[in-house]
Amino acid sequence: MNTLGLMTSGGDAPGMNAAIRAVVRVALGHGFRVLGFHRGYEGILREQLQEMDARSVSNIVHRGGTILKTARSKEFLTLAGREKAARNLDRRGIRSLILIGGDGTFRGAIDLAKIWKGQLIGIPGTIDNDLYGTDFTLGFDTAVNTAVEAIDKVRDTADSHERFFLIEVMGRHSGHIAVAVGFATGAEEILIPEERVDIRAMCERLCAGRRRGKTSSIIVVAEGVKGGAYRVAEELKKLSKNEYRVCILGHIQRGGSPTAADRLLATKLGGYAVDLLRRGQTDVMAGEVCGKLVATPFRRGIQHMKKLDDYILKLHSRLSL
Ligand code: F6P
Repeated sequence: MNTLGLMTSGGDAPGMNAAIRAVVRVALGHGFRVLGFHRGYEGILREQLQEMDARSVSNIVHRGGTILKTARSKEFLTLAGREKAARNLDRRGIRSLILIGGDGTFRGAIDLAKIWKGQLIGIPGTIDNDLYGTDFTLGFDTAVNTAVEAIDKVRDTADSHERFFLIEVMGRHSGHIAVAVGFATGAEEILIPEERVDIRAMCERLCAGRRRGKTSSIIVVAEGVKGGAYRVAEELKKLSKNEYRVCILGHIQRGGSPTAADRLLATKLGGYAVDLLRRGQTDVMAGEVCGKLVATPFRRGIQHMKKLDDYILKLHSRLSL
């Protein structure tokens, strides 16, 4: 019997459980034995795993987090660690591995492929939506909706007190969450790591908005912007007498029940990942681009950063009047 390993790695993302369920059920249906590793690459190194039968994934399609747990393994970053992982996989008779995670997970897979002969298939699971080769990653839609709900609440109090609020959303290296959230909440300003931040010009725009009668202003700041929302607030305070408040949404964005869109995407990509294995593919990530399921080599996915939509970026300055 063909034995398939399965793991989640890196930051967790809502929808990972739905993907685990789909992989397990589809793989069992094709006669695979499925072993689920705990805490990503750490579980392979420490041989912490469980047999995945059909019931092991019951009632998880709607749950956030990951039943397999997740981690970022330091030992796996070393060659000795990866050699140990390869030996452990071989000893268990594992010939293929499905990895659910982000770019760090797939970089690990590229290195593992150099010393391990088995098949490797990735499923994009990160709230950041920064992976090339798929329009959306698992968890992005849920994270955006969570942040939008929170910011709508902040808007109420910001409006009552006629205050300026800086809201920091996740995204250490990318502004995908910030842009989506900024548009959906009608934020006055969106600051992202991909673009230069001109605080003086922003302050002038915010003050001009106040003069035009705006009663509140929301500035969405991606975590990756230098110094984050607190630094931006400090700079703004030096330039104007307005009242600024900072709200860091943090890990709340990574939790919670996945949206229907995330559950659907996770289920499609989980099933597709098993199909890719059966077609003999390896070293690719399953993704969905323009409504079509596609496989993108890990290497290509890592080389290209997923770009933000230029049109959307330009559109924002025309909305905040
Ligand atoms: O990669 C997902 C992500 O949530 C990033 O947006 C964030 O910068 C990072 O993980 C936080 O990681 P940790 O949970 O280890 O602090």
